[in-house]
Amino acid sequence: MGKLNLNIDDVAPWVTKTDVNAMASVATMANNALHDGTLAGNDFLGWINLPSSITEAEIDEIEKTAIQLRTHCDVVVVIGIGGSYLGAKAVIDALANSFDWLQTKREDPVIVYAGNNISEDYLYELVEYLNGKSFGIINISKSGTTTEPALSFRMLKNKLEKEVGKEESVKRIVAITDASKGALRTLALQEGYKTFVIPDDVGGRYSVLTPVGLLPIAVAGINIRLLLQGALQIEKETDQTTPFKDNLAAIYAVTRNELYKKGKKIEILANFNPKLHFFAEWWKQLFGESEGKEGKGIFNAAVDFTTDLHSMGQWIQEGERTIFETVLSVDSPNKKLTIPHDDADLDGLNYLEGKRVDEVNKMAELGTRIAHVDGGVPNIVIRIPELTPYYIGQLIYFFEKACGISGYILGVNPFDQPGVEAYKANMFALLEKPGFEKETEALKKRL
Ligand code: PA5
Repeated sequence: MGKLNLNIDDVAPWVTKTDVNAMASVATMANNALHDGTLAGNDFLGWINLPSSITEAEIDEIEKTAIQLRTHCDVVVVIGIGGSYLGAKAVIDALANSFDWLQTKREDPVIVYAGNNISEDYLYELVEYLNGKSFGIINISKSGTTTEPALSFRMLKNKLEKEVGKEESVKRIVAITDASKGALRTLALQEGYKTFVIPDDVGGRYSVLTPVGLLPIAVAGINIRLLLQGALQIEKETDQTTPFKDNLAAIYAVTRNELYKKGKKIEILANFNPKLHFFAEWWKQLFGESEGKEGKGIFNAAVDFTTDLHSMGQWIQEGERTIFETVLSVDSPNKKLTIPHDDADLDGLNYLEGKRVDEVNKMAELGTRIAHVDGGVPNIVIRIPELTPYYIGQLIYFFEKACGISGYILGVNPFDQPGVEAYKANMFALLEKPGFEKETEALKKRL
């Protein structure tokens, strides 16, 4: 089996390998702190051993529930926001056929998402789309009290019960939530829904390898065993016995922190495959929510190339020199397509005749990397051999581990998100939620 590879050669003009190696003991201490639970956030370290600790019985239960939903539903709505949806969407989009959802004759149910926004139009159109379709719901909320998913679930539960009756609806709803606390747990108990637990010590953005990610991914027809095997491989290769020089997650964590110290405050994750768009969204949440606090933290952005070379490409090449780029590269495509001959050659593309489309993409990638380094953008490359569940599993664990190490190197708690509460408090006050009377009064005076 090939594996994930990290290349930091092209950060050399800004950060040398000597700079990186000088941080070996700091990174090793950070990695040890994750394993030993000696720093802030140590009550949220359950993700570290998820790939090695998940049991056959747990995988089996997820797979059986997935089969149940696949059998009864043409469409499955995954309700959740932030860490309760991005991991599943990232993996499904990376591995599913891009156009399969448009096919009428299909093996796998269509997966759609709700509860990740409060758009009335979106919800209306989703409800309209579900008309006449046999659908099920996976409702995911660790706290069980988040407004966005709760609101969507109320609407869709209502619709499902009206259409198929209470008894049948219970068979088509699965709740994934805290073991004992929260409104969703209470509701699930009351209604008799099948449930899965999000462990207490796993935060939302680190939860893709729990039922939060695994159930929707399995429903989409993706092999979760291979995903877990890939993650397990990197769990082993980044454990406490791994020296810094072989710990790719630690090297990536150090490199980005060294670049940050040199004024490179924005990291763009660039892919050359639109299937990875949502993988980058997951990555943005993972790093952004983990590190952006106490007035510190790299700003995480993402670009899809070559698409965004025709939009953000200008800024990246010549804008303020405060960015560095991490390219997520896939060695080989899963499908084969060669460029045909054209007698007229009016587009001038005959020089590419017989070449694979991916050869063109790879030259675009190389050309872009060289141009960006020449333009003052340090470049990190993370490669995987293919887009498969196994390698996506490797990438997930690699980034999770790197994020934990990176946060500790930066000196923040990478496992809390106090800043997320501010908008919620204002929204509740403005909506005059009971219990927020004082805040309502204070805000009204400001308006
Ligand atoms: O990473 C996190 O903790 C957050 O993104 C949460 O996952 C998100 O806010 C959703 O929370 P919950 O699952 O409690 O509804």
